[in-house]
Amino acid sequence: MVRPPSFFELCRAEPFRIFFPLGLLVGISGVSLWPLYFSGLHKFYPGVMHARMMIEGFLGAFVLGFLGTAMPRLTGTGPFSRLELTTLLALYIGAVGTHIAERYLAADCIFLALLITFALLMGKRFTRRTDLPPPGFLLVIFGFFNAIAGTALLIHGSLGEGSAHSALFGTQLLYQGFVLYLVLGVGGFLLPRFLQLPEPEFPESRTPSPEWNKRAAFALAIGFLLLATFAADLWAPRWMALTRAILAGTFLFTQIPFHRNVIPRLTLTAGLLAALFFIVIGLVFPALWPAQRVAADHMVFIGGFTLLTLTVATRVVLGHGGQSHLFTTGLPFLKNTILLLLAGMILRVAGDFIPANRGSLLSYASYLWMFAAILWGWCVLPKVRISDQ
Ligand code: HEM
Repeated sequence: MVRPPSFFELCRAEPFRIFFPLGLLVGISGVSLWPLYFSGLHKFYPGVMHARMMIEGFLGAFVLGFLGTAMPRLTGTGPFSRLELTTLLALYIGAVGTHIAERYLAADCIFLALLITFALLMGKRFTRRTDLPPPGFLLVIFGFFNAIAGTALLIHGSLGEGSAHSALFGTQLLYQGFVLYLVLGVGGFLLPRFLQLPEPEFPESRTPSPEWNKRAAFALAIGFLLLATFAADLWAPRWMALTRAILAGTFLFTQIPFHRNVIPRLTLTAGLLAALFFIVIGLVFPALWPAQRVAADHMVFIGGFTLLTLTVATRVVLGHGGQSHLFTTGLPFLKNTILLLLAGMILRVAGDFIPANRGSLLSYASYLWMFAAILWGWCVLPKVRISDQ
């Protein structure tokens, strides 16, 4: 009788199985810092720890899990070896643990090592590819460039070097650029799948077709223009915010063939479209209320990135667990997760407009986010142990 593969072997082939649960756990811990602080239980101000745990720990884990599973398949190459997965996990746990110990400089260095290791592992697969990934994946490279350059700039600043401009540029690249580029790059390829539309066909080949080149040139142009808006943010923040929203909106719009009018009314689709909507709205927001930039960021982080992450992760976990038939059902737990996140987003944004009630609004926003995460985790995460193979 053939023995079923161990959980570690399942994770090696499909790393989302370990990174998604880790990411959710770190996300809940990162958000819980605010009620702990406002209730007086934590004495230190958790601004840096929260930001790094959410971007490097929560979103970072979902990115590693998703791309670590998808890239080997899209390039027609092999999954991680035992050593590769163990190294990534050790670096990830090291970075998060060191942030929790308030050693931000050391933690950022470990996170930088994690990003570079992951990029090298993906680069190795790309050079050995038997097939080309979709052209939008060029924006995934921009995403990693943003994360690596942003973390390096923050390390430079923590060493007492660098200017206020380089520190702002670093935080913009890591906190916003990293995930925004990935959303655009991966969104372009996921949108047709979620909307059940025919996907653009490219001949199976290592070398690009003229159509692939055309789409890649468009993605590259959007990528460079977005980068320029981050670089110029210090001088013209309102205009740059508006330009970023237009660039992101235009790219996403070109990926959705609205003229076909066949958008299905599924919970997964609603989650995806709502998340993309809030990303674009959150990007416009600082152009209207520049003093509330952090509130605008949270529209992107909660209504955009968190919602998108949990929606896409639902599809990944169900799809790889042999439960694709559930895609077309109501998925009530996901509906409730979406509603809780949107309510949390509203309270988080309101907190920065109503200073008198800021502490309680931010605490309630945190409870709603954590409740959404726990509900989602309870309904979805047990399925990471189920394999469709
Ligand atoms: C839901 C409850 C949340 C609350 C109450 C909250 C609260 C806050 C507060 C008060 C700050 C300002 C920190 C400072 O003064 O330095 C902040 C910054 C930050 N938060 Fe959150 N947050 C929440 C959710 C999230 C989520 C879900 C993410 C990411 C997925 C996130 C990522 C960040 C980042 C990257 C920063 C620093 C960036 C910036 O300055 O805009 N937060 N958060």
